[in-house]
Amino acid sequence: MRICASFRKTMASSFAVCRLHMRGRASLAKCLQKTDAFLHRSIGTDVVIARAEATRSDESDEKNGRKSLHTLHMERREQAERSVLISCQSSTNEKKFLKYLSKHGEINKYFFYESYGVYAVVEFANQESVTSLLEGVAIPGGSHESAVPFKSRLLSLRNLGSVDSSNQVSGRQCQPQTTIPINELIKRLSREESIDKQISSLTEAYQLTEENSRLRFLVCSLLKDIATAYFPECTIKPFGSSVNGFGKLGCDLDMLLDLDSISGRNVKLPKSGLSLEYQMKRANSERAVTQSILSVIGECVDQFGPGCVGVQKILNARCPLVRFAHQPSGFQCDLTANNRVAMKSTELLYLYGELDPRVRSLVFTVRCWARAHGVTSSIPGAWITNFSLTVMVLFFLQRRSPPIIPTLDHLRDLAGPADKSVIEGNDCTFVSDFNKIQLQSNTETLEQLLGEFFEFYATFPFSRMSINIRKGKEQNKPEVAPLHIQNPFETSLNVSKNVNASQLDRFVALCQESAWLLQQSETSTPRGGGAGGEGAPTPWGLATLLLPSQVAGIKSRKKRRREPASERIKGLLESLKNKNQLKKS
Ligand code: GTP
Ligand code: MG
Repeated sequence: MRICASFRKTMASSFAVCRLHMRGRASLAKCLQKTDAFLHRSIGTDVVIARAEATRSDESDEKNGRKSLHTLHMERREQAERSVLISCQSSTNEKKFLKYLSKHGEINKYFFYESYGVYAVVEFANQESVTSLLEGVAIPGGSHESAVPFKSRLLSLRNLGSVDSSNQVSGRQCQPQTTIPINELIKRLSREESIDKQISSLTEAYQLTEENSRLRFLVCSLLKDIATAYFPECTIKPFGSSVNGFGKLGCDLDMLLDLDSISGRNVKLPKSGLSLEYQMKRANSERAVTQSILSVIGECVDQFGPGCVGVQKILNARCPLVRFAHQPSGFQCDLTANNRVAMKSTELLYLYGELDPRVRSLVFTVRCWARAHGVTSSIPGAWITNFSLTVMVLFFLQRRSPPIIPTLDHLRDLAGPADKSVIEGNDCTFVSDFNKIQLQSNTETLEQLLGEFFEFYATFPFSRMSINIRKGKEQNKPEVAPLHIQNPFETSLNVSKNVNASQLDRFVALCQESAWLLQQSETSTPRGGGAGGEGAPTPWGLATLLLPSQVAGIKSRKKRRREPASERIKGLLESLKNKNQLKKS
């Protein structure tokens, strides 16, 4: 979600010190298909198949290891409900800790991480174990401060006994969970043998881990415990990059307070005879209702929510939200309500990411490249957002010959009656059953696609045309904004309305330069760093594209006009022109 600059800066500095480390990280698979399945791979002794899954099992494609986002949500939410989050001491003895907790029942999975101290996520096999555990938990007292007696599943471990000399060799490991620094990534990529392997390696290093995904659902579940004080049947669901498959470690946690499932909404009054309905407060609009609900829940999060700090209510935004930092997880959180279209966008992005492993890898690579060059930023402004960039990659993949992914209109045509969805007059219908989607056989490699992506946008007629994933074809621009990307569901809106001309120019210039770099043999062939070699390997391929020095000269359109174009850029433009002419002929 977009946020005000000052807040972003404050949060950026407070999060800079927050390091997340995990234990038990699932070994990430080497090949693309395997890295692709990170969100839905079950580990340990997970046995949960959510009840509602049975009713929508047709959407999942177990044969290919694909699950619908709905199924995934159900599983993860169920796991989260059986989990607790415990602040431990750094010397906590893992064995003793587990023995102590196991008194309440079987533990399915646990892991440790660091964020302002050491934390453990512990998932029990049964809900009753959590109840039993909480029965024996004490309310803190004895200090000069008073505690709000709100009981949650965020706990602190106290060790009042003698110091255990075996603590230091407890075997407890916390593995880093934030992304590796860009310099380290560049070194890692430079050791790979091919650009395709570099792209896989980047995806593996950046994507959310199994544990991080669990932690995100656990934070939603902890917040739900606050919201249910007012709305007992509500749920809090993550959306955006936390669940759409394109999330990078450290990305924000976008959440939706879902009140749609509250019973009674679908109860129809009989045509005759007696019946009852609830008396309820009324407001002028849905927006006003959303604002008042978020205002109250935001207040509760601020006053009672353990670990929730820096709460801001941003209720006048186009999409009202409550923003805060959840310190124990290290997540920056945005809580919205009544934001069904964003949930649909999340489902759509997830579906596209599941259709072909190249989708996710290319999105990760382009997002990483864009961030390395400041094309995107965590501070809101006139730059391209990750969401817009993702839509641009999808559009590019629809324009391949043959297309790698289908158009949104095609996905709508394949939809069954259960998929029908109209939100505030917008048609958000698209198929959810993977088995109904036939893909064409495009065999392009990731290396080819990356080069073609840069060429595609280096020469795209941005001044005249709009990017449209519904049609899968560029359309005439309906307005004068420098960059026009049609909102997939609210089709009269431009998702990149914020982007100014100089940011678009920077993007285009960087695409030109990156396309050119990939065409150079000294960039596109390994430079003898060698896997396992000692010392810093010479950057090549994708690693070269991430080096900041390569784009130092590209600042803004104005500056470039005043300065003579460098020989390199001239050569690049020539080579692109020639290539395009060859293609047309
Ligand atoms: P990062 O947080 O940058 O990793 O990506 P994100 O996809 O989560 O983006 P963000 O947090 O900005 O937004 C969360 C979700 O809101 C997106 O995934 C979209 O589903 C939706 N969204 C964001 N921006 C727009 C927009 O301009 N228009 C529409 N319709 N939806 C948006
Ligand atoms: Mg986000």
